[in-house]
Formats: sequence, C-alpha cells, structure tokens
Amino acid sequence: MATKGVNDYRPRIHFTTRKGWINDPNGLLYHDGIYHLFYQHYPKDTKWGPMHWGHAISRDLISWEHLPIALEPDELGHIFSGSAVYDRENTTGFASFGKPPIVTMFTHSGETQQQSIAYSTDGVNFTKYAGNPVIKNPGLRDFRDPKVFYNPVRDSWSCVVAAGDRVYFYASPNLIDWVKTGEFGPEGNLCPGVWECPDIFPLKAPNGDEVWVLVVSMTIPLEKGGPKTQYFLGTFDGDAFICTRPFDGIEWIDPGFDNYAAMSYYGEELKDRIVIGWGANWQYAADTPTDEYRGMMTLARKLSLVDTPKGLRLSSAPYDTLGEIMVPTAIIKGEKAIESQVFGLGIEGYHNFAVTLSNEDDEELVFGVNENDEIFIDRSRAGDKTFSDIFASAVFGKVEKKRLYRGAITMEAIFDVSMLEVFADKGTFACAQVVYPTKPYNRIAIEGKAEVTYYDVIL
Ligand code: FRU
Repeated sequence: MATKGVNDYRPRIHFTTRKGWINDPNGLLYHDGIYHLFYQHYPKDTKWGPMHWGHAISRDLISWEHLPIALEPDELGHIFSGSAVYDRENTTGFASFGKPPIVTMFTHSGETQQQSIAYSTDGVNFTKYAGNPVIKNPGLRDFRDPKVFYNPVRDSWSCVVAAGDRVYFYASPNLIDWVKTGEFGPEGNLCPGVWECPDIFPLKAPNGDEVWVLVVSMTIPLEKGGPKTQYFLGTFDGDAFICTRPFDGIEWIDPGFDNYAAMSYYGEELKDRIVIGWGANWQYAADTPTDEYRGMMTLARKLSLVDTPKGLRLSSAPYDTLGEIMVPTAIIKGEKAIESQVFGLGIEGYHNFAVTLSNEDDEELVFGVNENDEIFIDRSRAGDKTFSDIFASAVFGKVEKKRLYRGAITMEAIFDVSMLEVFADKGTFACAQVVYPTKPYNRIAIEGKAEVTYYDVIL
C-alpha cells in the first residue's frame, strides 16, 4: 500500500481500499489460516453509493491483499451489510467437488430490505443463491445486517438481524430455510434510535461463567454525538438474547467517534474473539480529506470480559499480531523528536498527565488523564478541520470518559498517519479517533507524571 506523502493521510497498519468508498466491515471469517475481510464498498466514487462487497484477505490482520469485488448490486437491490460462515458440513448443499462452501449472508436493499445468501468454494468468486431472499421483509422499513452464528443450544445455525428499534433472531438447519425464534429490545436500550449491524457471541467471565455479548450499532442523532456501538451482557437461550446484567448507563464498545458497525470474526479454529470496526463516522465520513480512497477500518481488537469496580465489562486490546511488529526503542523523558508517522507508545501514568503530538504548525493531538480522573483524547486542534463543520464542531473535538479504576494507569497508544487508537485501564477504555495533521507530527511531549516508552512499528 503506497502512501503519497502525509497529506494523502493513508494509514499503513489500518485497512484502506485502493480506490473508492468503504463503510462497515462485512463477512469477517477466519478459515484455513486466512482472515477474510469483506466490506461495504462503492468502487466508483469516494461517497456512499450502490453498495458492493469489497474483499481482502490477510494472515496477520495487519497487511492485506486486495481481491476482486465479491458481490455486486443486482435486481433485488444493493448489497448491504452481513456476515459469513464456513459451512464445513455442507448443510447448504453448495459444496462443489467435495469442497464445502463459504456462505455469506447479507441484506438485499432494494424496494425493501431482505436477507439473502451467496456462496463460494474458492473463497474468491461468489454465486448468489437462486432462491434469494431467504428471509423476506416482515413489513419493516429497516430490516438488515444479518450476522450468522452457530447456535449451541439448537445445534443449528442462527442469525441476528437488526429490525427497526430491536433485533430479531432466526434459526436454520441449512442457512436457507429460516424460522424466527425471538426478539430483543427496545426494552433495556437507553439510547433510542434505529439499530444496525448486530452481533452476538459468548465470552468467558473471569470466574469461568459463560456470558453472551450482544453488540448493536446505534444511529444516534448529531446533537447526541452521532453513531456509536453499544453492547449488552446476558445469556442466549437458543431462541433469543436475554439481558441479565443491565448497566446503569449506556456501555459503548468505544467512546470515540471513529469506530462503527464493529463485527467479530467467525471461525471454528479461532480461540480469540476478534473484532474490526469501520474507522469513520457517518456524520462526516464522506467529507474527510483523502484523495482516491475514503475511510478505513480500525485495528483488529481482541475482546474479553473483566471484573471492574462497577461490575463486568468488555475489554478490548490490539490483537496479538500487532505486538509482534512493535519494538521498544526509546524512553521519552519530557519530549522527543519523531520522524515516523506510524509508532506506538506504552505509558505508565500516575494521576493526571498529557501526551501531546505536535507539528511545525502547532497542530496538537493531546491525550491522557485529566484532573477529573477522565481519560481524554482532544483532537480539536490536531489538524485540518475545514472539510466538515460537523467534524470541526465542539461535540466531535474531544472524548472524555470517567475511569473505572483509580490510581496508576497503563495505556497503550498506536498512531498511524491519520488514526490514533488508545487502550487503557485493562481495555475498559478503547478509543479510535481520526485526525488530519496538515504536516507530519514531529514532536512528542509529556506533561505530568508518566513514564513513556516509544515503539517503532516494523513493517
Ligand atoms: C451501517 C449501515 C448498515 C447498512 C450499511 C449500508 O453503517 O447503515 O445498517 O447495511 O451501513 O451501507
């Protein structure tokens, strides 16, 4: 992936498409040692348009190989978001020459939104099922983004579909014939709006209990901070998700503005629950100042559950493969000149401190812990904001989140040309923020009590 100088803003360790628009990650599937990443894509423009599924593969979730477009719009509509599984037992009957298929399930968005499937036995060329749709629209305006998963109670396939202000669950023996088994919402949801891109999976709590996590992206209006991705904790009884551990407030998987439609990898061989989100925000994504491409994905994150003083919470960490390309090369005392625009920082902080990345034009990206015990990322003076009044507005300038812990704090920051991701407090703070510095940042400065290690990223 060649960069054209910093003003191209193209990140190096975050996925971007070569040309055109991207939004949600789709069909995240790990199979045969390969991570597939499909994504919402309009190849002909850097704005949202008739949706296709773009396709890329990786062995480490860091460097990606671009493959041909997997799904194109047709007479049933545009190809909206969805998921993928490997049908090892050929429940669909789509195997060819004994080779089981990869099956994608997605929304056909035309006159109405309905769920359809496509399959491939070579992992590159996909054939849409002739009997599509497999789940017809039940009379809803918003009915989309099927996420297929293995249902351990019924020993069958299940899928969760966003249906207006709630999610519907369906079960199927063969990914073709589906019956509705249940619903979740809107009760229990503290931020009303249209639900999108649901995902559901089990994780082990520290005490060994199995806890099911339901993830839903929420179309929140501008004045309330724009779209974000929420999660609930509970159980799955084979028919539907039941929220058994309600929170006092809304819990986001990321309090920042640039992580939406996060989805987890399906893979029988996977030991970890790995998610990738769209590293952008509907409110300004189309206007961001990149040239032939628009949008990126977040880093792959590993999810787990942690006990906190407020109870059980989701924890996110950069996926293990990132650690393999990061080498500690310096301890920063006060400040350090930098040349690379791709680096990591390991921070041991005490009380309030601030880390500032800055350039010759005094643009500053600042993050740390403030005197109110909040973790913050302030991008309000970090670079170009002229491309969007919304991006430039105060709402989108700063993220602040009250810590769940007190005292010393461990933080990891990864900077990649135009994206900062910060992980702290056992992963209970995980935040992605895009920035557009008009000149490369050439200085890191530390204020307050913090020991900071600089990591080179070896590509
Ligand atoms: C979420 C979303 C999905 C939809 C897709 C369309 O970002 O609105 O609900 O399937 O984008 O591109």
